[in-house]
Amino acid sequence: MKTYSLVLCLLVAGAADGFAQDNQIILYPDSGRHEISRHIYGHFSEHLGRCIYGGFWVGENSKIPNSGRIRTDVVEALRDIDIPNLRWPGGCFADEYHWMDGIGLRDKRPTMINTHWGGVTEDNSFGTHEFLELCSLLDCEPVICGNMGSGTIREMSQWVEYLNSDNVSPMTNLRKENGQEQAFGVTYWGVGNENWDCGGRMTAEYYANELRRYSVYCKNYGENELYKVACGPSRDNYHWTETLMKDPQTRNSFHGLSLHYYTICHDWEKKGSATDFTEGEWFTTMQKTLKMDEYIGKHSEIMNKYDPEKTKGLIVDEWGNWHDVEPGSNPGFLYQQNTLRDALLAAVNFNIFNKHCDRVKMANIAQTINVLQSVILTKEDQIILTPTYYVFKLYKVHHDAILVPHRISSELYTVDYQSIPAIHTSCSKDENGMMHLTLTNLNPNKDINVECSVHGKESLKIIGGEIITGEEMNAFNDFGKPESVNIASFDDIEVEDNKLKITLPARSIVLIKVEI
Ligand code: AHR
Repeated sequence: MKTYSLVLCLLVAGAADGFAQDNQIILYPDSGRHEISRHIYGHFSEHLGRCIYGGFWVGENSKIPNSGRIRTDVVEALRDIDIPNLRWPGGCFADEYHWMDGIGLRDKRPTMINTHWGGVTEDNSFGTHEFLELCSLLDCEPVICGNMGSGTIREMSQWVEYLNSDNVSPMTNLRKENGQEQAFGVTYWGVGNENWDCGGRMTAEYYANELRRYSVYCKNYGENELYKVACGPSRDNYHWTETLMKDPQTRNSFHGLSLHYYTICHDWEKKGSATDFTEGEWFTTMQKTLKMDEYIGKHSEIMNKYDPEKTKGLIVDEWGNWHDVEPGSNPGFLYQQNTLRDALLAAVNFNIFNKHCDRVKMANIAQTINVLQSVILTKEDQIILTPTYYVFKLYKVHHDAILVPHRISSELYTVDYQSIPAIHTSCSKDENGMMHLTLTNLNPNKDINVECSVHGKESLKIIGGEIITGEEMNAFNDFGKPESVNIASFDDIEVEDNKLKITLPARSIVLIKVEI
C-alpha cells in the first residue's frame, strides 16, 4: 500500500511550520478556548422495536431486576458512562405521539398503532412520568421532542405546561392528580422532528412558519427556560439551514438547530450487514462517516453568517451507523449488532463533534438500546455492552473539558485507489491540568507509529493509556460469550526528546493521559 504525505488540518493560525513527515501531531494546550459540552455524548431512545419495551422497560411482575419496571442493569450501565441526556419519544414516533395517551392509570391508557415501526400496538404504558422517572434514575437531562407532524399547537403547549407549570392551571392540576406535585422542569424541547419527511413532508419555508407559531406557545414557567431545538436539516440540505437562520423572527424562535446524518455503507435499499462485511465496506463506512465533518462545517458557516456570536447550537440529535437488520428479526424494529467498525465510527464522530464544539452543543446517538448503533443490547434477562458502549466510556474524559487544538499529518489508508487519513484524533485538557489524547487508527491491517509534541511544554508525564481493539475488524460482543471488545490498558508509548512516541495498533482507539 502506497502512502502519501498530507497536512490534514491547521487549527491554529500562525502556529508551527509544515510537517516534513507523516504521522505527526502537535498539540496546543495553551490555545484551548472552547468547552466540549458533555451533552455531545448524549443518547436517543425511541418507541421503536425493543428500545423502550424490552430495553428500558420490563413487563409487569418481570423477574428481571428493575425499579418500577425500569431495568436496573441498563440504568447501572448508562450511569457508568455518565449519560448526560436522553432524547425521547422519537424520531418518527414523536411525529404521531399524543402525549395525553401516555399519562394516568396505565390500564386506562388508550393504545395506538406504531405505524412507522413495524405496525405494532403501542400500549402507552411508558409515557411522560415513566420517561422522567428513567431520567431521574439515570441522573441525566431529559430531551423531549414535541409532535409537530400530526399534533396541534394546543397539544404541544399543554404538554409544556403539564411538565413545567406550578401555577394553578388545568394542566398543573392534572399532573398533580397523576402523582407529581413538583413541576418536572424540563429544559430541552424539540419543536418537531424530521419535518421534511416523516414529520409532515414540509418545505423549509412552510416549516419555518410553523416553527414560529408552535414556538410562541411553548412557554417558560417559573425559573425554567426552555432550550428549543428546531428541526434542522438532513446531511447536506443547506437550504434548510439558510431558511431557518436568515429571518430574525424565525431565528429567534429556537436556541438549537438539529442535524441528522446516518452513516450508511451502501444505500437505503441494501445497507449491508452489521457483522459480515469486507474491508472495502469497512473503508466506505469510514469514508462516509468522515463526511460529518464537512456537513457540520458547512452548516456552521451558514449559522456563522447570521449568528457570529454562536449563541445557537447545532444539535446532532440523530447520528450513527445504519445497517441491515439482523437476519430473522422484524424488519420494522431496526435491530442490529455492533462491531469494532461501529466503535471506530463512534470515535471518529466524537472527534469531529469535539473539533466543532464551539457550535455543536449536543449530539444523540441513535439509539441507546436494541436498535441502530446501540450501546446496549438485551435478550430477555441478558445484557451486552457493545463496542460503541466502550467508546462512550473511554471518551468520558472529554466531558466538559477544554478542547486542545492540534495539527496533524497522517499517512493515508488506501483501498481501491481511494484514500482517507489513517489517523483521526481529538484532545482536551481538564481543570486539573490533565490532557487526554484520543487517537484512532482506521487502517485495519497496519500498526502506525505516531509522534506527538506538545507546544510550549517543557516536560511531559505519561499517566496512563487505554485501548479498544479486537482480533478482527468485525469483532463483536455476543450473548452468552466472553466479551471480544472491551477497554484494556495500553503502554506502547514513551517520551523521547519531549515527544510522545506512540505505536497505534491496527483498527484501534487509544486514549493517552498526559500531565502537563
Ligand atoms: O432512528 C430511526 C429514524 O431515523 C428516526 O425515527 C427518524 O427521525 C430518522 O429518520
